This record gives sequence, structure tokens and C-alpha cells, in this order.
Amino acid sequence: MRVSTGIPRFDSLVDGGLLENRMYVLSGPPGSGKTTFSAHFVTQGALAGERCLFLSMHEAKSELKHDMSSYEFGFDRAVESSNLEFLNVFDTNTKRLLGGGDNADFATGVKNMTNRLVSFINSRGIDRLVIDSTMILQYFFPDSEEAFIQFLTSLKRIDATTLLISEMTDPSSYADEHYISHGVVFLHNYLESTGMTRGVQIIKMRGTNIDSDIREVEFSDDGLQVFPDRKLQG
Ligand SMILES: Nc1ncnc2c1ncn2[C@@H]1O[C@H](COP(=O)(O)OP(=O)(O)OP(=O)(O)O)[C@@H](O)[C@H]1O
Ligand SMILES: [Mg+2]
Repeated sequence: MRVSTGIPRFDSLVDGGLLENRMYVLSGPPGSGKTTFSAHFVTQGALAGERCLFLSMHEAKSELKHDMSSYEFGFDRAVESSNLEFLNVFDTNTKRLLGGGDNADFATGVKNMTNRLVSFINSRGIDRLVIDSTMILQYFFPDSEEAFIQFLTSLKRIDATTLLISEMTDPSSYADEHYISHGVVFLHNYLESTGMTRGVQIIKMRGTNIDSDIREVEFSDDGLQVFPDRKLQG
């Protein structure tokens, strides 16, 4: 089954949507639209009655609500529905939920944190998950690539369609998450003399016939708009 991202002309680039219960990585430089894309994704789910979880280390719920308030794609309605839950990593409740302060060795700590998150997702019946961003994992598992891979592998198995935001400014240096995930989407922004040009590019999408051209993106009142016919040079 395919899951709509809530960005209609993006869905058309990926055969109608994302494959359900898979893990996708959304990468791009600052301000390229990663969080906005994710806000569309949870709005689409929440308004259709799906359970959504937004796990962030960058914005509190109130900030995100404020930042999305000039758009009309319904993020405020999604927030008001009972279907969209926020966890900010720096909240005491979240810290308690995800662990920390365990007297366990490192490997056990990683396993515990992963298990706690997975069982939280399962117990709430989460259908759509956003993790903003992989920096969260560097915070919980500093300097441990092995722990990071273990965490991602567990996330791939959960019954939720997952968007993992990964900050990345150099499009030629791929990270572990790009290899492990089922799909990778890049958002681009180019500073030009006429202003900022934005684009979206599907780097990979397992099980889906794609081409990897960069398509133009604009931010409109309705949020992120993709223009499949406007191809940009990389
Ligand atoms: N109507 C609008 N409302 C809010 N932001 C807008 C609007 N139009 C354009 N923008 C721009 O969208 C950008 C924010 O995009 P977003 O937060 O989704 O990017 P991001 O990739 O998550 O960035 P970061 O890496 O900093 O988290 C801002 O730079 C903002 O100026
Ligand atoms: Mg962001």
C-alpha cells in the first residue's frame, strides 16, 4: 500500500506515495524544507485518522505550530486533533520515556533506549513517525556508529512509515542512514542572483520506479509545492 505524503505532486514522482511501514531519509541543507515536508506528512496522516508521532530535538510543539501557521495545509487542525503527538527530546517526560540515567553499560543502554521507543510506538499504534533529526541519535549515542546502526535497523522493523531527517550539506558524502533506509529524498536550495531556488530530488526509493532529476519546489500558502515539469540542473 502507498501512503500519501500530503504533497500531491511529490506523490506523483514516487508512483503515488511512499510504501507503507518503510523508513525514508529526508536530507538537505538548512532551510531547505525538511521540517515543512515532515509537517505535511503528519498532517496528511492525522487528518485521515492515523496516529502520528513527531519526535524533535529542534522545535517545541508551540514553535512548530507557530512556524507552520502561515500555511493553509491544515497543520493547526492536525495539532488540535488527538492524532498527532509531539515529543521533544529535551523535555523531562521524553527523557524519562527514552531512558538515560541507567546504570547499564553502553550496549545495554542503547538497547534499552531503542526498545523503549519501539514499545512506545507500538503501544500507541503509531502509523507515521517523524524524527527531526539524526542529531538526536548523536545526542543519545555520541560517537557510536554501531549504536546508530542498531537503532536504525530497529526502526526499519516497526509498523510505522518513518521519515528520518538528516542534515546534510554535502550531497556527495552519504551517511549510514542513506544506505540503511528504504528511500532517500534530497531537498536543495541554491542561492542565485535572483534569490533562492529550491528543488527536490529522489535519490533512491526501493520498489519504486523513479528518475532522479531535480524538480523545482516553491513554498506557497499551501506549503511545499513541487513542479514535476520544471527540472533543475544539479
Ligand atoms: N510562508 C512561510 N512560512 C514559514 N516559512 C517559510 C514560508 N515561506 C518560506 N519559508 C521558509 O521556509 C524555511 C523553513 O523550512 P524548514 O524549516 O522546513 O527547513 P529545514 O530544512 O527543516 O531547516 P533546518 O535544517 O534549519 O531545520 C525558512 O527558511 C523560511 O524562511
Ligand atoms: Mg528543520
